[in-house]
Amino acid sequence: SILLITLLNDESKKRLRTSKINCVTFPLPAFMPEQQLLKPGEWSYCDYFWTDKKDSQGNGCITGFEVLLQKQLRGKQMQKEMAEFIRERIKIEEEYAKNLSKLSQIPLAGQEEGTLGEAWAQLKKSLADEAEVHLKFSSKLQSEVEKPLLTFRENFKKDMKRFDHHIADLRKQLVGRYAAVEKARKALADRQKELDLKTQQLEIKLSNKIEEDIKKARRKSTQAGDDLMRCVDLYNQSQSKWFEEMVTTSLELERLEVERVEMIRQHLCQYTTLRHETDMFNQSTMEPVDQLLQCVDPARDRELWVRENKTGEIRPVDIEI
Ligand SMILES: *[C@@H]1O[C@H](CO)[C@@H](O)[C@H](O)[C@H]1NC(C)=O
Ligand SMILES: *[C@@H]1O[C@H](CO)[C@@H](O)[C@H](O)[C@H]1NC(C)=O
Ligand SMILES: *[C@@H]1O[C@H](CO)[C@@H](O)[C@H](O)[C@H]1NC(C)=O
Ligand SMILES: *[C@@H]1O[C@H](CO)[C@@H](O)[C@H](O)[C@H]1NC(C)=O
Repeated sequence: SILLITLLNDESKKRLRTSKINCVTFPLPAFMPEQQLLKPGEWSYCDYFWTDKKDSQGNGCITGFEVLLQKQLRGKQMQKEMAEFIRERIKIEEEYAKNLSKLSQIPLAGQEEGTLGEAWAQLKKSLADEAEVHLKFSSKLQSEVEKPLLTFRENFKKDMKRFDHHIADLRKQLVGRYAAVEKARKALADRQKELDLKTQQLEIKLSNKIEEDIKKARRKSTQAGDDLMRCVDLYNQSQSKWFEEMVTTSLELERLEVERVEMIRQHLCQYTTLRHETDMFNQSTMEPVDQLLQCVDPARDRELWVRENKTGEIRPVDIEI
């Protein structure tokens, strides 16, 4: 019974030094030396999501872990939307290439002649070359940017659901065990009250029957104490299991987020590289046009044209009588 009272005292002291939020036990700051962060200086997920918080709509609660999961799902959505954006960019390139290619086929001014005619023909051909450059850009965008963004982590939602269920199950177990502790605590208090009552009765009137009752009450009380101990032990185990899984899982989520950001950064860099390349190739389609334009020579064109289309070089002379 001394053990029992000690246990009760211990228990109630601990209860005073701790607070429960949704069945998770936290130290009251006044009674705890300051806790060290698990990963000081890193702003690690595993240090900042232990408490449940009010839902943004004000109804209900979400766990810290759910906040982390929402971040992951939003990240997945952003990755998907970036792929969609790149798809639109690809469409513009494809359409532009189609327009250029169509224009290069149009026979306008096809009969220009000489060096100017050659330069003009090259300019029209350059549109087809440019179209080729844009098509290549769009196809590389597709295979080297859009597709990787689209296919990165195809089963992600399923993986997140698995984490979600795993942690939620541990929390459910914790709630159950907390209820068991409360029940055992109440049972012990009742037994204790019964024992006190019998003891008072014995003080008023000595009786074998009451002495027997006291022995029985003491036994029951001890048993209730053992029960409470066992329930607390189970609760502690449950909380400590939840704690461990929270740490390992949130570290895993943290790793996944680092990996996602790195992956996206890499592919956006690939976008800028391809875009620069396109400028360079695009530029190079203009080089032959520029060369031919430098060779345009009105005098030479006149010569060529005259050679082929001249109608006679004998000049008229005055009438001779
Ligand atoms: C391509 O040409 C069509 C009309 O022929 C035009 O509506 C469209 O804006 C052009 N697209 C691009 C990307 O130049
Ligand atoms: C429960 O955990 C606390 C803190 O770790 C510990 O002091 C106590 O002995 C545990 N109780 C039982 C019954 O395991
Ligand atoms: C390619 O060059 C042409 C002019 O030579 C320019 O109008 C076009 O915007 C360029 N396209 C790209 C993708 O650089
Ligand atoms: C000029 O000469 C070329 C080559 O012989 C010919 O194709 C063209 O029809 C001629 N132009 C005229 C106006 O006769």
